[in-house]
Amino acid sequence: MRNRRAVLTAIAGSVCLALTSSACGESSGGAAEGDSGGGTIGIALPTQASERWITDGKSVVEDLQAKGYKTKLVYGEDDPENQVAQIEKLVKQGVDALIIAAIDNKSLNGVVQQAADADISVISYDRLILGTENVDYYVSFDNEQVGRLQARYIIDELGLEDGKGPFNIELFAGSADDNNTKYFFDGAMRLLQPYLDSKQLVVQSGQTALEQVTTLRWDGPTARKRMNGILAQSYGSERVDAVLSPYDGISIGILSALESDGYGTGGKPFPVITGQDAELASVKSIIAGQQSQTVYKDLRQLAEVAAGMVDDILNGEPPEVNNRRSYNNGAKAVPAYLLQPTSVDKTNYKDVLIQGGYYTAADLK
Ligand code: GAL
Repeated sequence: MRNRRAVLTAIAGSVCLALTSSACGESSGGAAEGDSGGGTIGIALPTQASERWITDGKSVVEDLQAKGYKTKLVYGEDDPENQVAQIEKLVKQGVDALIIAAIDNKSLNGVVQQAADADISVISYDRLILGTENVDYYVSFDNEQVGRLQARYIIDELGLEDGKGPFNIELFAGSADDNNTKYFFDGAMRLLQPYLDSKQLVVQSGQTALEQVTTLRWDGPTARKRMNGILAQSYGSERVDAVLSPYDGISIGILSALESDGYGTGGKPFPVITGQDAELASVKSIIAGQQSQTVYKDLRQLAEVAAGMVDDILNGEPPEVNNRRSYNNGAKAVPAYLLQPTSVDKTNYKDVLIQGGYYTAADLK
C-alpha cells in the first residue's frame, strides 16, 4: 500500500544521499524509530451523547499524541450528513490518515473515495464501513461474542439449561444502519433460539425478527417508547422476565419504561436485562440491582490498536491483524484486529473494572 509517510521517507532517503549524514539524521531517523513526529490524524466519531465515544476520542488522541502525531477529533452528533461534511473537511485539510466510526455505515463511500484519491489511509473504528474498497483496516471487538455473552447471561440467570421456564423475554437490537447490530443480534439469537423453539422462552409481543426490534441510532428514549408500547399491549397479566438489550443506553431507556410500569418494587422485580459498554450510569445501575449485566469492552485497548495501526501504516509497515475473513464489507474482506469482550455483573465488576483501572471505586459511588 502506498501512503504519504512511506513516500516522505523514500524522498527523505534519496535527499540524504545528496546531503551530509548529520543533516539527514533527524527526519529519516525519526521515522525509522516510529517516533513519527509531525503527521496529523483525523478522527471522526459518531456522537458525544454516549459516554463511550467520549472515552474513545480521549484515548485515541492521547495514544496518537504519545506517538508524536497531531490530531483533529470531530463528532458527527448522530447526523450522517454532518459526519460526511466533517470527514470531507479533514480530507481537504490534508490529514495523513483517518480513523472513522461511522454513524451510517453506508453513507461514507463518497468521502472515503476522496480520502483514497488523496492517498489517505482509512481505519474503520469499531463500526465497519460498508460497500467500499477504500477501508484499509478494521479494529473492533469480536461482535458476535458480545451477543453470545448477553444471551449466555440470560440463559444462566433463568436456569434455562436446567429446563426451567417458561419465561417471557423481549428482544431489542441496535441501530439498523450500524453493521455491528446484526452481529450482536445473531450472536445472541444463535444461543436463545433453541429456547424459543422449546417455548422455555416466550416473546409475548411476537417481535422476534431483527427488523422489528432495531433501535434507530441506539437511542435510549426510542427504546423506552417501544418498551412502553410492548408493556401496554402484551403484558396485561403477564410479567417480563428477561430483556435482551444490546447496549447500555438502550438498557437505561428500557429500565425507565419498566420502572414506570411498577417494576423494581418488592413484588415485581426487574427482569434480567443485559447491556454493553460498561458505561458509568449502567455500572451504577448494576450495583443498585437494576440492570443485570453489561459487556465490557476495554476502549483503551481499542484506541491503542487503532493508534498503533496508524503509526505502522505511516511508517510503511503492515499493521498486525488477527482476522482476515470475518468482516467482509461487501467490497472486500477487511483485515481486522478483533479484541475480546468481557461479561460484567455485580459479582465481578470490582475485579474487572476497578482492578483493571477502567473506573475508580470513587467513580462508582
Ligand atoms: C456500536 C458499538 C457498541 C455501542 C453502540 C452504541 O457500534 O459497537 O459498543 O457503543 O454502537 O454506541
